Amino acid sequence: MPAIVSVKDLNKTYKSGFEALRKVNLDIEEGEILALLGPNGAGKTTLISTICGIVMPSSGTVTVGGHDVVRDFRAARELIGLVPQELTLEAFETVINTVRFSRGLFGKPKDEAHIEKVLRQLSLWDKRDSKIMMLSGGMKRRVLIAKALSHEPRVLFLDEPTAGVDVELRKDMWQVVDDLRASGVTTILTTHYIEEAEAIADRIAVILKGDILLVERKDELMERMGKKQIRIELSHPIKEVPESIAQRGVQRSEDGSALIYSYDSRAERTGITALLNDLQAEGLQMTDLSTHQSNLEEIFVGLVKDNA
Ligand SMILES: Nc1ncnc2c1ncn2[C@@H]1O[C@H](COP(=O)(O)OP(=O)(O)OP(=O)(O)O)[C@@H](O)[C@H]1O
Ligand SMILES: [Mg+2]
Repeated sequence: MPAIVSVKDLNKTYKSGFEALRKVNLDIEEGEILALLGPNGAGKTTLISTICGIVMPSSGTVTVGGHDVVRDFRAARELIGLVPQELTLEAFETVINTVRFSRGLFGKPKDEAHIEKVLRQLSLWDKRDSKIMMLSGGMKRRVLIAKALSHEPRVLFLDEPTAGVDVELRKDMWQVVDDLRASGVTTILTTHYIEEAEAIADRIAVILKGDILLVERKDELMERMGKKQIRIELSHPIKEVPESIAQRGVQRSEDGSALIYSYDSRAERTGITALLNDLQAEGLQMTDLSTHQSNLEEIFVGLVKDNA
């Protein structure tokens, strides 16, 4: 299937001379949820804004649904819903009118059934007649999403959708994105929160200083880079790891009260059984055993450090 969003050799240098994007290549498949993960200033908003046709590329091309976002701006833009990083809403307008108006801007005919569907999907139906200024910050974010969905886009861009949103609402928002996927919407979101990418993304793109460092399926990324460790607590601390065990690459914890063994959880033979046998043969008694799999956060921190 052709990609719904295709970014080829995209460069962006701002007027100031700052190179915000360097030769970015990225294909996004219809129906997926892609998280764009990167620290402040990495180029996330620049990339999203360029795909949405708001920022002009310096070179390279972007197509959405096969339409070039520069040459064929209107056709491309019609397929796109954008929730910007900054909250921009008319304080005195009601929720429902805000969303209606947004649909009108795209020249779409009135469709009250669609507006109702979107407001219900975002749990805003009961608030439809409230003025924006009466809503909490989290509710306002939902209104922004409702606005972005008002013209039935196929691709939704969420720039930091849960910045400043509490844990509860953040989880609601993840549910919203998941529901949207079920209705066929492709979602690209930027985030600083690794747990967010971990919770909802199908694929993760890591961006740093305008470079895409990697784009990979989340589960594969965690498999590939996530090392697994086993920690064996000993009944008596040891000064040295016995030779037969040290050979296996097992290390002593700092205080000698435990043994630590890193292994590849995908390997046919992890060596754990043999290690436990050796332990017994050496007369070492264990009191406890725990395993640890590195999470996305550790992977990400490692990546950023290696590329600093
Ligand atoms: N209009 C502009 N003119 C010059 N430089 C800009 C402009 N907009 C952004 N930049 C610079 O480009 C870089 C990338 O900015 P961008 O907003 O894309 O980062 P970001 O990844 O979205 O960061 P954040 O996580 O803080 O939102 C930053 O160094 C920023 O200062
Ligand atoms: Mg940003």
